[in-house]
Amino acid sequence: MPFECDVITLFPEMFDAVTNYGITGKAFRNGIINLNTWNPRKFAYDNRHSVDDSPYGGGPGMVMMAQPLEDAITQARARQTAVGISQTVVAYMTPQGNRLDHHQVTTLSKMPGLILLCGRYEGIDERLISRQVDMEISIGDYVVSGGELAAMVLIDCIIRQIPGSLGDPESANQDSFVDGLLDFPHYTRPEVYQGDHVPEILMSGNHAQIRRWRLQQALGRTWLKRPDLLKLKLEQHGITPDEKELLEEFKQTCKFR
Ligand code: ADE
Repeated sequence: MPFECDVITLFPEMFDAVTNYGITGKAFRNGIINLNTWNPRKFAYDNRHSVDDSPYGGGPGMVMMAQPLEDAITQARARQTAVGISQTVVAYMTPQGNRLDHHQVTTLSKMPGLILLCGRYEGIDERLISRQVDMEISIGDYVVSGGELAAMVLIDCIIRQIPGSLGDPESANQDSFVDGLLDFPHYTRPEVYQGDHVPEILMSGNHAQIRRWRLQQALGRTWLKRPDLLKLKLEQHGITPDEKELLEEFKQTCKFR
């Protein structure tokens, strides 16, 4: 069964970016994921199809009204129920949400589906949030102009975790963050570029050695670029004596550079 995604958005066309291109586009064409959009404007019944109004208490900007959103969500939940999802989940994309990381992406990708609620303007009427939202997700501590880009980031990450979405099933396992580490460096032809050589080990054909070198690079680069991640790995995943030795060796080579 495909991952069933329903999105509540004023700008459904934006999602062409994930449904039509690259790895994500292929996943949609192959039926690995299914996406339906629901435009709250279609559930706004005044003459002007209003979806927002000024905030009570004053202040700048507009607030999305509860009713058009609630009606759109109700339709999305009904569709998900009709395709066999017994517990529908509405996730509101907001900077106030739980900050997305690899672990959460893995958890979400194992669910049968998700309903993503995209906000615009200053925000959404709080009563809609308390009535309908089951979880809140942020893509980072900054603000984008609407939930759509955030939802697309989430959809893309989820697709990568679904078996069959990547040409080579090993690709997702080699991504950064999978084992709490950043990725190792990559090289392709030519062997010498502007006088700069591909590391000799990669030309050796010794796959065990190459694996060790890559692990050492991943450990070393995480130590150099994201010491916070390395600390987290030590606490959560632990480090084997072999990994410890590889990292120490990497640190030594840095000293002598
Ligand atoms: N909407 C606006 N900014 C956002 C963010 N950082 N994460 C999720 N949704 C958002």
